[in-house]
Amino acid sequence: MSVVPTRIAILASGSGSNAEAILRHFEGSETVDVAFVGCNRQESQAGIYERTRQMGVETTRFNKAELLDGGLLQALQSKGIDWVVLAGFLMHIPEGLVRAYRGRMLNVHPSLLPKFGGKGMYGMHVHRAVLDANATESGITVHWVTEAYDEGAVVFQAACAVEPNDTPESLAERVKELEHMYYPRAIAACIAEHVTS
Ligand code: GAR
Repeated sequence: MSVVPTRIAILASGSGSNAEAILRHFEGSETVDVAFVGCNRQESQAGIYERTRQMGVETTRFNKAELLDGGLLQALQSKGIDWVVLAGFLMHIPEGLVRAYRGRMLNVHPSLLPKFGGKGMYGMHVHRAVLDANATESGITVHWVTEAYDEGAVVFQAACAVEPNDTPESLAERVKELEHMYYPRAIAACIAEHVTS
């Protein structure tokens, strides 16, 4: 019996280290095919293009207008994309896209939501806020994407310590280790559950 793989799209805005972890996790998978990698920033501002190219995968640029006017959604649908996973994607997801992929769109956030989430809380801003608040732990949250920033139901969380001498950069590194280890597995688990339910 042959399995029809679930086709996923990765949307990113930055260095693409999570995109790489996801691509590596599903390399050779019979059940999940990463069929599209997209980025809203141009190549000079986002390391993801070079990073995925090294892996033999092209990242496609799309602009804000395409995100907002439904052009991106059309492109995803025409490629038969079943699931969308956000991997450091820093723009708000428009309602149409959320609706089309409700229950099939995941995000990873670099804190223990609901702490340090919401508008303006992304990337290094999150780690700075965690340190400014003298928090003793941080971590990652994988959650469903809804219309409101970082408010969808939580699928998975993992915590790490905030060390006394942490800088935003050192904390980001520790949090990214968690993301790379757990986000691909959380994606795989959600897809598997969806397929068998
Ligand atoms: C990751 O830490 C991700 O959690 C964060 O951006 C970083 C992207 O790194 N996303 C958010 O802050 C979303 N609110 P990467 O480009 O190396 O994967």
